[in-house]
Amino acid sequence: MTTPTRKHLPPLTAVLVALSLSIPLTPANADAILEGERFHPAVGLNGMVATSHTLATEVALEVLKSGGNAIDAAVTAGFALAVTQPRSGNIGGGGFMLIAPGDSSPVTAIDYRETAPAAATETMFQDENGDAVTERSRFTHLAAGVPGTVAGLALALEKHGTIDLKTALAPAIKLAREGFVVPPRFTDGLESVRDRLQQWPATRATFYKEDGSTYQPGERFRQPELADTLQRIADHGTAGFYEGETARLIVEEMSRNGGLITEADLKNYRPVERQPVRGSYRGYDIYSMSPPSSGGTHIIQILNILEGYPMGEYGHNSAQSIHLMAEAMKLAYADRSEYLGDTDFVDVPLSGLTDKRYATELRADIDPGQARASLDIRAGNPASYESNETTHFSIVDRWGNAVSNTYTINFSYGSGITVTGAGFLLNNEMDDFSAKPGVPNAYGLIGGEANRIEPGKRMLSSMSPTIVRRDDRNVLVTGSPGGSRIITTTLQVLMNVIDHGMNIQSAVSAPRIHHQWLPDEIRIENGISPDTITLLQDMGHTVETRSAMGAIQSIHIGDDGILYGGADPRRSTSSAQGY
Ligand code: DON
Repeated sequence: MTTPTRKHLPPLTAVLVALSLSIPLTPANADAILEGERFHPAVGLNGMVATSHTLATEVALEVLKSGGNAIDAAVTAGFALAVTQPRSGNIGGGGFMLIAPGDSSPVTAIDYRETAPAAATETMFQDENGDAVTERSRFTHLAAGVPGTVAGLALALEKHGTIDLKTALAPAIKLAREGFVVPPRFTDGLESVRDRLQQWPATRATFYKEDGSTYQPGERFRQPELADTLQRIADHGTAGFYEGETARLIVEEMSRNGGLITEADLKNYRPVERQPVRGSYRGYDIYSMSPPSSGGTHIIQILNILEGYPMGEYGHNSAQSIHLMAEAMKLAYADRSEYLGDTDFVDVPLSGLTDKRYATELRADIDPGQARASLDIRAGNPASYESNETTHFSIVDRWGNAVSNTYTINFSYGSGITVTGAGFLLNNEMDDFSAKPGVPNAYGLIGGEANRIEPGKRMLSSMSPTIVRRDDRNVLVTGSPGGSRIITTTLQVLMNVIDHGMNIQSAVSAPRIHHQWLPDEIRIENGISPDTITLLQDMGHTVETRSAMGAIQSIHIGDDGILYGGADPRRSTSSAQGY
């Protein structure tokens, strides 16, 4: 077994010298401390924030510096991302937040996943012949679930934070009202979906210039309507979103366009505090998101299977390691399609799926030298992958409290529909339900009966905010976007640290692989060697090189309490900063 080695930690003496001389750990001296590494994490002694947007990282870090805790900073970042990164940061979507107190008291999870409106029906995304109509579940007003973000962030703050909602919203309101200078990624994103977004007048007016062109890098982008919407939340709390003017604007948007969300749906929306799913891997305790996300369950299931192999010895991204990982992934994703759904509506055999004995049974069927065809595991008919976006952030404060948050509007820019007059995009999360058992969603994920549409139900997710503890101490905070690839992306960062002893930036940056049972292919990023690919093909695998997977923002807390941040270079705006 390999555990994180101390080689990537700053020698304690260097840190003590820095501390005693009150020398801040600047990038320059942190480089010296981390000498010998190829990838350098951000270093902090008192707090660390890793998000997918520099401006969100900066405002959250300010909260920590002025005495706020990780939850205060997380909620502040969540609202700021809704302004600076409209393709995934949101108030029109939903997500999950894991909170692990620094004093080793229990890890808790806030589920603010969207719900199906009361008028939703099992067959609402099928035509008269019973065929699934994907356009309807992705790009119409019917695609939107009842948004959970505002209620979820407010609940997190109320139960675990120290600042009020008004304070947490202030930086977001300022960014929306005064605007911010857009980075190239902002321009590229809106340019790439111009046709899809501009069919909706409010989206065109909110995110593009008057002549329909895109804001260019370096130009200032303002969102006055969003600023007003956020101000109503600051003034009236969650009622400033789920009731009153904003609720009226959402309901009008729906009724003008055949959508289902009503005033009652909004007023009745409730986030839920849940127990995270828990497992262990080589002496580390893994906490991750329980249903209605499938993420935590399957990360633990895959880790349980892989624990039976000396993965560290087999080596990072060797053909042997990738083969075993792919075989374990296939089994987990096949189970996902059968068993997973919202546990408030269906029974999910959670303890069975995460049981080490079950993993032993599954492992027995894995041939160490030969791929098993996915169709021998279970039949299906997957769709291809789609471009998409969600966003994750990880935060640790000076008391060791950790927050791991993933939230989304599903696709990049969600449904593409902006609530007229309110300035924010609506999710298209209804596509994460099974439109029809056996028909894949946009990520090629097959859902079963357990994930059929029911009024008030939460659609199955893969989002996997994860926190690892050892001896009751928080050691790793991580999570990612990436649709179906979220589970495998998060898994690999855990393994890169635990099995392969990488520092957190190396663990985040390393090339990733993915198998989701169907389609029957190992998807790889650039950076896996051609002879490894040949060895995998010789074992019977189909290997496809595709675009980058996930954007995992992570924090590792060293044995001596030093905080290391790893921001994912796959997103050019990613930023980890400590102090
Ligand atoms: O909840 C889910 O699993 C998906 N709606 C997440 C979508 C996503 O991660 C898109 N991102 N890159």
